[in-house]
Amino acid sequence: MGYREFEIAGKTLTVFELDDVSNSATARPLTGSWIWDSALVLTEWMAEQAQLDFTFQDKTVIELGAGVGLPGLAAALLGAKRVVLTDIETLLPGLVRNVEANGFGDRVEVRELVWGSDESEVSGLGELGGEFDLVLMSDVFFDAEEMAALSKTMKKVCGKKTRIWAASEVRPWTVECLNELTKEGFGLVELPREVGKVRSSSLLLGNESFLELDSFAIFRLKPPNQKDDGHVTAVDHACPKIEEEEAEDRLCF
Ligand SMILES: C[S@@+](CC[C@H](N)C(=O)[O-])C[C@H]1O[C@@H](n2cnc3c(N)ncnc32)[C@H](O)[C@@H]1O
Repeated sequence: MGYREFEIAGKTLTVFELDDVSNSATARPLTGSWIWDSALVLTEWMAEQAQLDFTFQDKTVIELGAGVGLPGLAAALLGAKRVVLTDIETLLPGLVRNVEANGFGDRVEVRELVWGSDESEVSGLGELGGEFDLVLMSDVFFDAEEMAALSKTMKKVCGKKTRIWAASEVRPWTVECLNELTKEGFGLVELPREVGKVRSSSLLLGNESFLELDSFAIFRLKPPNQKDDGHVTAVDHACPKIEEEEAEDRLCF
């Protein structure tokens, strides 16, 4: 089992990837077994926000479709007071291992959370509905048919002031997914970040990973139950319905 190390805010984060969990139907490794580049992009962006004006210290955080959990673990490293890493059951032991490897057992929990599940099926999450300050997602916009279930889950874990940050590689089907989320009532803005450069993730120790940064986007989603509340900055603006052909260029709102 390999691992990757990251330097974030002067501290080292260790994330093990998995080579022994596979889909029983296809025998292929589960997609959550390794760190996707979107997770690197989101984590780097989170570290930048922490250096600017975003405070993790007083935040409760949930990561949906966490895989091996890099962004959620990074939120803990950046000081979040409570983090819940969620995914399908098969991936939970890997997440637990990564929590333990970084000594976050007192602040980070691992829970099964299948999108669209009823709260009663999600042990321990029910009482947290609406309590999370921040929802993190990376590379979960891959199947438009899954978005209704993902929306249902997002609505359950979002309160009036919850922020949702999601990173995605921009692929043609990303647009279909985002359109489904806007149909469910979510507001959507692409957050500004440096694009157009090809460089390694500055967090990854060893620097072996090079990303085409303009292939990725980070979005802030606004839950349907939130009115304009002053959190949305001048760079945020209403998202028109995205046309699929726009994905050929990139997602600009
Ligand atoms: C492409 S992987 C991304 C993993 C991780 N977020 C990353 O960026 O490294 C998609 C993740 O979504 C999870 N996932 C897919 N469908 C799901 C569902 N219906 N309920 C919960 N998790 C799901 C997968 O198990 C996997 O961990």
